Amino acid sequence: MRIGIIGAGAMAKALGGGWAAAGHEVLIGARSRADALAATIGYGARTGSIGAAAEFGAVVLLALPVSALDEVLDEIGGRLAGRTVIDCTNAFLPDEAAPEAVPAFVLSEEAVAARIAATVPEAHVVKAFNICAAEVWESETRVFEDRRLAVPICGDDAAAVEQVAALAQDLKLQPISAGGLHRAKYLEATSVFTVGLWFSGADARAIFPPLDAAFAVAD
Ligand SMILES: NC(=O)c1ccc[n+]([C@@H]2O[C@H](COP(=O)([O-])OP(=O)(O)OC[C@H]3O[C@@H](n4cnc5c(N)ncnc54)[C@H](OP(=O)(O)O)[C@@H]3O)[C@@H](O)[C@H]2O)c1
Repeated sequence: MRIGIIGAGAMAKALGGGWAAAGHEVLIGARSRADALAATIGYGARTGSIGAAAEFGAVVLLALPVSALDEVLDEIGGRLAGRTVIDCTNAFLPDEAAPEAVPAFVLSEEAVAARIAATVPEAHVVKAFNICAAEVWESETRVFEDRRLAVPICGDDAAAVEQVAALAQDLKLQPISAGGLHRAKYLEATSVFTVGLWFSGADARAIFPPLDAAFAVAD
């Protein structure tokens, strides 16, 4: 599959590198560092402008800070029509109201994926890969305590969600269909909450029982 990666930072390297290694055609479009990243990734990864990456990909990853989205979508939004656009962004800010010595974050914006979809309504926006650190996505370790690392995915277009699920599987991850794009804000909230726990030294994984002990049955 042709994948356009917009941005050349940590997430571009982790996800773009994994997809290139899995046999996908990757083109990195970024305002700087694209050539260096393509050389690091190898596997024939190409580079171009941000607009070229948007046009190249059947799937386009927005590997950008939230603060860059307006500017970039203004420039290339029209070229995303009909494409699957993966939003992996998180709008984190330090939580100024957190008790002293408790590192925590809040969201500067509560529904980024929904805003992207409203900005580029002809694109099929899918939220995914926003929960774990780039280093986790880049790592070869995929199974923790006998469970494969999972990627919750939210999107409205079934074919686009299926494409992103396949791309998660290509990274040896377990996709989990997590509902429509209106639910992406819950993934964004999950990320800011969980990362806060991790930064404060708490094992976020410990707050959940396994499925068979979760009493997840309708009353
Ligand atoms: N890193 C993680 O562990 C992680 C995990 C989950 C989700 N995320 C989310 O993924 C997104 C990307 O994170 P990242 O860690 O890959 O960021 P990063 O390493 O800082 O890379 C950001 C990329 O965006 C580019 N960029 C910034 N402002 C731009 C603008 N106005 N126009 C065009 N390009 C611009 C940067 O270009 P320059 O180098 O030229 O500035 C760089 O290529 C963020 O929304 C982040 O919250 C990150």
